[in-house]
Amino acid sequence: MTIVAIWCRHEGDDIIGIGPNIPWQIKSDTKRFRNLTLGKTLVVGQKTYESFPGRTLPNRKFVVLTFDKEYQVSDTENHCIATDIRQLKDYPEDLYVSGGATIYELFFSMPDMRPDIVVDCLYHGDINPKLEGKPISVHKSVEIMRENYMQLPNEYELDNITTTVWLKKGDFVEQSLIKKILDYLETEGK
Ligand SMILES: NC(=O)c1ccc[n+]([C@@H]2O[C@H](COP(=O)([O-])OP(=O)(O)OC[C@H]3O[C@@H](n4cnc5c(N)ncnc54)[C@H](OP(=O)(O)O)[C@@H]3O)[C@@H](O)[C@H]2O)c1
Repeated sequence: MTIVAIWCRHEGDDIIGIGPNIPWQIKSDTKRFRNLTLGKTLVVGQKTYESFPGRTLPNRKFVVLTFDKEYQVSDTENHCIATDIRQLKDYPEDLYVSGGATIYELFFSMPDMRPDIVVDCLYHGDINPKLEGKPISVHKSVEIMRENYMQLPNEYELDNITTTVWLKKGDFVEQSLIKKILDYLETEGK
């Protein structure tokens, strides 16, 4: 099982959200996330799950992290809950950790659950000043990433976002999956 983390963070402060919202709207960012996760199993916190329209995304499966054992998912066939990250240790499919900040930090802070691959999208533009709510940042996860991961030299620029890929140091990482991700990033927007 390979664990991939994917996020888009704001340059400088590592903000990924304000209240329940992502504070930028960039079509190619949404498209990148969609194309890299289609057909995959996404792990999300309950708050991020609730932020998706209808609490779902087409052609994706979900594991929703929540402490609430009674939490009802919107699609009982393709979505399930986990109340402890340890339940995902030997998960039978690759997992795409997709937010929010609490869930990224949960994975990064446990050495044996750290993502193997990080798709790190860095947004250089302005944050929507009209949004109200608490800024949510992945700063702690980024610090752990910088210390424990190796950044591949390839940089992909599109619509004010630079994407790079980081690999966990010292562990074997599934090469075919890295290649698939890099191939997609190489061709996107062209
Ligand atoms: N820019 C991006 O790439 C990106 C991606 C995804 C999300 N976001 C943004 O991130 C923000 C949401 O992040 P967030 O950190 O506030 O919330 P979150 O991570 O989406 O969800 C937090 C919830 O996860 C559950 N949880 C936390 N720790 C857990 C544990 N150890 N075991 C089981 N369940 C656990 C709890 O649910 P219960 O309360 O139900 O127990 C908690 O309330 C939003 O602004 C969203 O738009 C941005």
